[in-house]
Amino acid sequence: AGIVERTFYVKSLTVSRLCKKQVITAVNGSLPGPTIHVQEGDTLIVHVFNESPYDLTIHWHGVFQKLSNWADGPSQITQCPIRPGYKYTYKFTIVEQEGTLWWHAHVSYLRSTVYGALIIRPRHRHSYPFPKPYREVPIILGEWWKANVVDVERLAAATGAAPKLSDAFTINGRPGDLYPCSKHKMYKLTVVQGKTYLLRIINAAVNNQLFYKIANHMMTVVAIDANYVEPYVTDVVVTGPGQTVDVLLTADQPVGSYYMAARPYASATLSGNPVQFDNTTTRGVIVYDGCPTPATPLMPALPAFYDTPMANKFYTDLRGLVGSPFWNPVPLNVDYEMFVTIGLALEACPANNGCKAPKLSASMNNESFVKPTSVSLLQAFYYNINGVYTTDFPPKPPIEFDYTNDAINKLPIQFAPKSTKVTKLRFNTTVEIIFQNTNILGPENHPMHLHGFNFHVLAQGFGNYNPATDRQKLNLFNPQIRNTIGVPVGGWAVIRFVANNPGVWILHCHLDMHLAVGLATAFLVENGPTPETTLPPPPADLPQC
Ligand code: C2O
Repeated sequence: AGIVERTFYVKSLTVSRLCKKQVITAVNGSLPGPTIHVQEGDTLIVHVFNESPYDLTIHWHGVFQKLSNWADGPSQITQCPIRPGYKYTYKFTIVEQEGTLWWHAHVSYLRSTVYGALIIRPRHRHSYPFPKPYREVPIILGEWWKANVVDVERLAAATGAAPKLSDAFTINGRPGDLYPCSKHKMYKLTVVQGKTYLLRIINAAVNNQLFYKIANHMMTVVAIDANYVEPYVTDVVVTGPGQTVDVLLTADQPVGSYYMAARPYASATLSGNPVQFDNTTTRGVIVYDGCPTPATPLMPALPAFYDTPMANKFYTDLRGLVGSPFWNPVPLNVDYEMFVTIGLALEACPANNGCKAPKLSASMNNESFVKPTSVSLLQAFYYNINGVYTTDFPPKPPIEFDYTNDAINKLPIQFAPKSTKVTKLRFNTTVEIIFQNTNILGPENHPMHLHGFNFHVLAQGFGNYNPATDRQKLNLFNPQIRNTIGVPVGGWAVIRFVANNPGVWILHCHLDMHLAVGLATAFLVENGPTPETTLPPPPADLPQC
């Protein structure tokens, strides 16, 4: 195991997209930012110089951060932001996980341009549980605004309205030739006929799940969220923001050129009608070596935007690869069970208080999460600072009713109070969470992400979770292991994890517009009994609020 050291200079960068010059915040002058390669067991040190005009943090999405919670990165949760002109060094060791992860800003909407791949290779070379690919290629799907993204988020927060929709999706930072002024800068991958490529697909979009397809080619999924799965052959990949999918792609077609394309899987509805979303399509091109130019590439037929059966099939068909590197069996004894509703609603809007239009709000178990401001949650936990949070996050919603029928659901838990309620866990507690989507404002597939841990996805389904029948569906043998689960639209999912890492770990919807309005909570995991299970003190350069 070695040390990998990098420096991130984060600053304004002027780029042209969609016929418009735009000032964005970027790392080391590139979009996407630099790809980081490590081997399992390596220590990664990243010096982050914030030369941008905004507060900044960097999160290492999916990295366990064993005993290094101070380097996790969510703003106000494990650190106060790095102020403009300051720096912070993230230092952590990456153990017992390998595959495709990524890093991104974890404050405001900045991750729409501050992101990149984090690739963890096996400690011993060539030890993938699948044939060694000829080449490995990151495919990072992103989302683009023809506006300053920090302003987009601020405006939404101020008005309480849904934020401005994005103007494009991107593949490795490029929108592709279906957008104006984007033809010449399309992402292009050259392949050799007969060779097999490992595409490391990352959904770095801010607010959209995506379908991804390649014309005339099948893909074999071999890993998700840096966890190996049983090889799964498919013509379409579906990803929620935060998730990664590794596929093997064999260039087994006639020499020619083929589009790859991505566009949203749109699950949200409001009173039965689809909610507005950016309905554009990004594409790149795969060109076979020796292909006579110019050829018109073949275009894949993408699923319909609302194709929930297609998305659900992909999400539920995948199985963990029992016995693969770092495979963990399902913990069978649950110490703490939670039933957690997740969903959107509106804030109460009393006219006699001068309220004109209700603001968007989101909650878990009827609590809408507010981040602390004076210190980070982790500082408050570590130093026993009173008054920052309370440990009474409810393990159940306040009332039982029909969560997915919108006619009935308007009243009982519509207006969630704002709070900073968390769950305190003893070291090594096995937690089961049953997520239940609600239909108070409208149902939607919410990609729920837990920091610091992988979890087993034991079952998922549509409608109201029913223990009498749904317990029998739990897969305790070879479930998928993930760090982000798209809870089916108007449905539920059961996950399990062992809280074996002391610190503060946020659980939140990875649609940034929902995180911003409170779709979050956190787990405070106590130290274990030994020095090896005790969180060390913060690094000296930890930013203060
Ligand atoms: Cu990928 Cu809390 O984030």
